[in-house]
Amino acid sequence: MDLDQLRPDSERLAAGIDELSSFIESDHEGWTRRVLSEPYLDSRDWVRNRMRAAGLDVHVDVAGNTIGVLPGSGSRSRAIGTGSHTDTVGGGGRFDGIVGVLGAIETAERLQETGIRLQHDLMVIDFLGEEPNEFGVSCIGSRTMTGAVSRAFFAKQRPDGTSLGDELTRAGYSPAAMLDEAGAPNRLDGFVELHIEQGPVLEREGVQLGVVTAIAGIERVLASFLGRPDHAGTAAMRDRKDALVAAAEAILAVEQIGCSGEHSVATVGSIDVQPGALNVVPSLARLWAELRSPDPGWLGLARRQVAERFQTIAAERGIGLDLEWLNDQDPVPTAPAVQDLIAQTADSLGYTWRSIPSGAGHDAAHIAAVAPTGMVFVPSLDGRSHCPEEFTETAEIAVGVHALAATLVALDGRPSA
Ligand code: GLV
Ligand code: MN
Ligand code: MN
Repeated sequence: MDLDQLRPDSERLAAGIDELSSFIESDHEGWTRRVLSEPYLDSRDWVRNRMRAAGLDVHVDVAGNTIGVLPGSGSRSRAIGTGSHTDTVGGGGRFDGIVGVLGAIETAERLQETGIRLQHDLMVIDFLGEEPNEFGVSCIGSRTMTGAVSRAFFAKQRPDGTSLGDELTRAGYSPAAMLDEAGAPNRLDGFVELHIEQGPVLEREGVQLGVVTAIAGIERVLASFLGRPDHAGTAAMRDRKDALVAAAEAILAVEQIGCSGEHSVATVGSIDVQPGALNVVPSLARLWAELRSPDPGWLGLARRQVAERFQTIAAERGIGLDLEWLNDQDPVPTAPAVQDLIAQTADSLGYTWRSIPSGAGHDAAHIAAVAPTGMVFVPSLDGRSHCPEEFTETAEIAVGVHALAATLVALDGRPSA
């Protein structure tokens, strides 16, 4: 088979990126389209219509994922899948997520235009809500699809006390049915997700494609330092129970812990201070921290270190500490067989590639629990991501889409797939 014919239509790809990225929350910075926001729901209508125009049979599954199916020849009972997400972080960029959805749709179109019929059905998936949300959880659709959700997951609350389950119900989903998905049979024989790298390695080395070896595990914690409010003019320095100063020490400890492992990072991304007045000693400082690594040993150690260092800091300052571990995600190695297929495909198409771990989380990390899974990365300008400057040239994305399409054809033909 001449895999060159699967090269995507770059103009169609660029038009899709322009249109889909234009659904934004106008009162927010950057290219913001957070899960369940109105622009997000509108953008998902756009995706459904785009899938239909691409000749796919479209439905929304119980998990809230939009799925377009390109029927195969009928000789395989399960499907192979590809896709990503269309929500963004607040103040995010144009490419994180939508590249994998539009690349998947483009692949389905090229398969039909070239008359290549897969044996498997091809499932093109726009997963519901991949980014961490105000309920403190991420990857709603892919976790649900693989039965990795619980009552506690849907009971998570955002600061105003609304639970994730209530918010999903309001948006027309059924948390009870989502919980029942745990018993549903796996529909996938294999899965490949295309994504921007979101880091600097491919661009720095002038390599066209990343073959992802593992997706970093993530530990997230909410630490509340409980001090005492006092008059900032009269309370002597030695008498204070300043929650914010304790939190500041904790932030430095997180940075230090993050520096202790290869491919490992640690971040305090948000902090809330009460009462938040210039002339009152802070009585409460809540900080949200996360630890990431492809190495489970490092993650476990770092989690223990965070707990110990925070407790020491609080004890030395005589203030209280409450630690709530929000959600964890083990590091996930991608399937070696799928890595090999992607690498061989890149070689046969004449594209340069390198193996690379992913520091970002992805829906693929959850799908890997039920099917052999791989990921293809394309370069990110200056390694920037989760910011408005995020950028990848259409020509670079087209290379990734071409490799994705050819890899799915190879996956389809695997005897064991
Ligand atoms: C998702 O983009 C994440 O890595 O947090
Ligand atoms: Mn992201
Ligand atoms: Mn993403």
